[in-house]
Amino acid sequence: MITQNTHPSRSSFLKVAGAALVAVAGGCVWRAADQGIFSAGTGLAYEPWKNWQDAATPLERIVAAGILASNPHNSQPWFFYISTSAINLVADFERQIGVIDPFRREMYIGLGCAIENMVLAAAAEGFQAGVHLLPDSTDASLAAHLELKAAAPQASELYASIPKRHTDRSAYDPTHPLAAETLDAMDRLANNENVHLFWFSDATGKGKFGQIAVAACEALVADEQQSLDSHAWWRQDWSVVQQRADGITLDAQGLSPIINNIAKFLPDGSRQQNDQFFVKNMREINIPTAAAFGILAVNDGMDNTQRLECGRIWQRIHLWGTGQGLALQPLNQMCERADRERQLNSPPVLGQAVRDLVGDDRWQAIMPFRAGYPTRVSLPSPRRGLLQVVPHTES
Ligand SMILES: Cc1cc2nc3c(=O)[nH]c(=O)nc-3n(C[C@H](O)[C@H](O)[C@H](O)COP(=O)(O)O)c2cc1C
Repeated sequence: MITQNTHPSRSSFLKVAGAALVAVAGGCVWRAADQGIFSAGTGLAYEPWKNWQDAATPLERIVAAGILASNPHNSQPWFFYISTSAINLVADFERQIGVIDPFRREMYIGLGCAIENMVLAAAAEGFQAGVHLLPDSTDASLAAHLELKAAAPQASELYASIPKRHTDRSAYDPTHPLAAETLDAMDRLANNENVHLFWFSDATGKGKFGQIAVAACEALVADEQQSLDSHAWWRQDWSVVQQRADGITLDAQGLSPIINNIAKFLPDGSRQQNDQFFVKNMREINIPTAAAFGILAVNDGMDNTQRLECGRIWQRIHLWGTGQGLALQPLNQMCERADRERQLNSPPVLGQAVRDLVGDDRWQAIMPFRAGYPTRVSLPSPRRGLLQVVPHTES
């Protein structure tokens, strides 16, 4: 009797297994390439970091510097209108990050950051920039009018740091504290009567700041609308990163290269998984490894002019820190919760905690952050280029 051998021979088994392995490996390489595992920091969405000094006209080059500024959730809430000798910076209210920023506090701070980059670039291009903040009292979207007058070109160290500055969300070196002179130097950058920099650099101050920061993160992810509005800016898929050129990416999370690549390789995490990662990271990495925490505070946290001034100072601090080899990351959840409580008219739990932390009724916290020395290189986040942010009028 001939029995049908249902098992393949050893040689045909090896052939099939080999082919399957090639197919799986090929699929892996394809997915790896598709998800930008080999291409961090490259592609159209990252071009603005490389070609910011290549635009045709000086005013376009000044705007190209503005585009590289720090801004909330990488929402890039801006348009730039260029005329012969002036630039208008206009808020794009459609890019508000929902109830994460219900009163547009962060939006105006981010616009202030863009102003600072443009002022530095204007000097390098041979202009003195006269800055008029909110020049039209009937139009809150006109954030600033920059009037450019010819002057001797001055490329400052801060200007040179513009393409090197990136938000660093990784662990900082716990053995490397910030020297008193470093804190003093940053204090001097906050030289505006409406803005004050508070430091939390001893164990007690850091402990209080850390506790409030973690509590704020927990409250934020427990607020479904805040969680949804934050997640709306999460970009995991590489083609979406390239297309939209905005939002928060895996590359910008400060993960180790291996973990980052594994995470890119895996399917998109859910919003809830991302929220859990975010709180755990804050509790276990961001807070315990910081060398110091700071809070930029203003006299009136609802005043858009003061927010713009604060943004200019934050950008200067971040650029200066970049030149000094420091790592910096805003940690805004405590203010985001304070704003949200105010919006919902609910008890000011985080609002009161932040007021107590600052401990001076004359000042209102609007920009908390962490500082230290880096343990790894932080990667750039995507940017929309000139074509997307400079509206073109028919001539
Ligand atoms: C007002 C404001 C608030 C921010 N809040 C946070 C924050 O809470 N956590 C964080 O990791 N980054 C925060 N950032 C940093 C932005 O996410 C970052 O600037 C943006 O994603 C662009 O990346 P880049 O700074 O590396 O160019 C904030 C920035 C600004 C201007």
